[in-house]
Amino acid sequence: MEKKFKRTTVTSALPYANGGVHIGHLAGVYVPADIYVRYLRLKGEDVMFVGGSDEHGVPVTQRARKEGITPQQVVDRYHKMIKDSFEEFGISFDVYSRTTSATHHKFASDFFRKLYDDGKLIEKTTKQFFDETTGTFKTDRDIVGECPHCHAEANGDQCEKCGRDLDPTELINPRSKENGAKLVLKDTTNWFLPLNEYEGWLKQWILEDHKEWRSNVYGQCKSWLDMELQPRAMTRDLDWGIPVPVEGAEGKVLYVWFDAPIGYISNTKELCESDPGRWGTWQQWWQQDDTRLVHFIGKDNIVFHCIIFPVMMKAHGGYIMPDNVPANEFLNLEGDKISTSRNWAVWLHEYLRDFPGKQDVLRYALTASAPETKDNDFTWAEFQARNNNELVAVYGNFVNRALQLTQKYYDGVVPACGELTDYDRQTIAEFKDVKLKVESLLDNFRFRDAQKEAMNLARIGNKYIADCEPWKVIKTDPERVKTIINISLQLTANLAIAFEPFLPFSSKKLYQMLAVEPLGWDNLGSTELLKAGHQLGKPELLFEKIEDDAIKAQTDRLERIKKENEAAAFKAEPVKKEVSFDDFEKLDIRVGTILSCEKVKKSNKLLKFEIADGLENRTILSGIAQHYQPEELVGKQVCFIANFPTRKMMGLESQGMILSAVNFDGSLSVITPQREVKPGCQVG
Ligand code: MF3
Ligand code: ZN
Repeated sequence: MEKKFKRTTVTSALPYANGGVHIGHLAGVYVPADIYVRYLRLKGEDVMFVGGSDEHGVPVTQRARKEGITPQQVVDRYHKMIKDSFEEFGISFDVYSRTTSATHHKFASDFFRKLYDDGKLIEKTTKQFFDETTGTFKTDRDIVGECPHCHAEANGDQCEKCGRDLDPTELINPRSKENGAKLVLKDTTNWFLPLNEYEGWLKQWILEDHKEWRSNVYGQCKSWLDMELQPRAMTRDLDWGIPVPVEGAEGKVLYVWFDAPIGYISNTKELCESDPGRWGTWQQWWQQDDTRLVHFIGKDNIVFHCIIFPVMMKAHGGYIMPDNVPANEFLNLEGDKISTSRNWAVWLHEYLRDFPGKQDVLRYALTASAPETKDNDFTWAEFQARNNNELVAVYGNFVNRALQLTQKYYDGVVPACGELTDYDRQTIAEFKDVKLKVESLLDNFRFRDAQKEAMNLARIGNKYIADCEPWKVIKTDPERVKTIINISLQLTANLAIAFEPFLPFSSKKLYQMLAVEPLGWDNLGSTELLKAGHQLGKPELLFEKIEDDAIKAQTDRLERIKKENEAAAFKAEPVKKEVSFDDFEKLDIRVGTILSCEKVKKSNKLLKFEIADGLENRTILSGIAQHYQPEELVGKQVCFIANFPTRKMMGLESQGMILSAVNFDGSLSVITPQREVKPGCQVG
């Protein structure tokens, strides 16, 4: 049954205001959402794009503690930073507000109170860890203790050493992460949403009625629904958040995942109230059957948007359900999971500092490798290739040729189109076809393929100009060239439309070069967008080549971060089994001075040393060629084991072993006495 919708409410996950935005956020959620709303707007549809910052929850309080500032200061700082980044990248929210706003506090509080008054919540008393020194309950992530399995120090929810999921009550000797205080279990009462009571309804609504959802989303919902759903706490013992509006609930706040999605609604309300003439009422966008609701999120948010939030709205009553939840998988960076704590990310503000004005290039590269069906990888090499081989060499090149030729032959005035050849007609038919393809892909949230199709339009253009060779024909048949250029210019205007959802900055620039106002989606496929006699603007380059050194600066930076992370993660090996002093004394360790050193032929590991050992000198082969140049060791003193049996390697004899320290990353550093000593001295 095809429903007729009058308007679309598009939401994108509210990012936690406890850090900046990186390419993973952009690729997974905000760029696809923005492409989608720009496309709907271009088609003239009524759409509202809702965003905002998620400012409550434990992640914010942890950040505050780490930086020694208040949670409010944390969210003020990051809300601004996130909002600025989105603006700079052209993420075209109609409203971007925050969950600390007064409107939101009241809205979320009233929402909870209605569920409470209608008897939709259950009250349960459970035992939670409590810090008597501060009088506060602790959340799982704020608790540390000994892992019951491997006995390493572990967090309340997970042991990093052995990887097991934990319940904080399993920890041996649980303590507060904040101050090390010993924790005790204490009774506390919270309000739970009985998800289990909605199982039948959820199964029908998702598993039967929404088989068209992306398979990753549908699959995750199915596996949740195949397990038995449990009541879920909607309040927490915490002091940062929206106070629970119930008598006797002092010191408790709404669960962050309760209030955050309600933020979509309260932000809508804020926008509607600021301009009711334009936006009408918030109820239109959330409670009318002729409104379509679409949530853009990352895969870690699926259960909240497909199960918990819908149950909240269902329990409350009056709300429409999401029509689709096109969740993405994760984007990795150079083969590793993006991680804020390990600084393994490309931050938007840093990108803009290093590539000013190149927002569209990142948007393009991220859409081209969007993790739509599986996790995907962002690499700087691919970023460069997408820019140089596609944006510059295909799209930019075509536009530049069309505009430059118009400049050259007609002083920038659009020539009239003459009679069409079969080849002209075929080309025009091809690019009309692209419109239908792009539309059907966008309607199905397949942004990667849609962008590919838009690029095909530029390929058609390049092929057309190359095949028609106007630079040759101008000498024999100047009338024909007018038609070729006219068609090329119409194609150029088509490109500005087709790419507008994906590359809004470039389209804007292109419209300026064409000296026309932005065109609507319906014009796509038309060959009458630029009238003969119309004076074009000044041609400029749409994209420029990105050189190797700019890319190398980025990969070097990541290399450095990786090294720092490895160093920070280094843990010394456990001490080996006890040995006696007698055992030690059996080893004859001495100092020698290196007289000469050279590479061993045909070996990329071995260096051959001549060592003064205070006796007759000796030859030692050592596998450190990857770590030292031969010349840098000559004249240096090293420690070596003098009483190993002679060994043969690569046909050469080695009389001992040079001692090296093995660094965390496997690099070797030879052991040298701290002051110079006589060759042959013993080490002990
Ligand atoms: N802050 C959450 C996250 O980053 C997303 C919240 S989405 C909303 O994972 F629905 F709750 F708003
Ligand atoms: Zn463990």
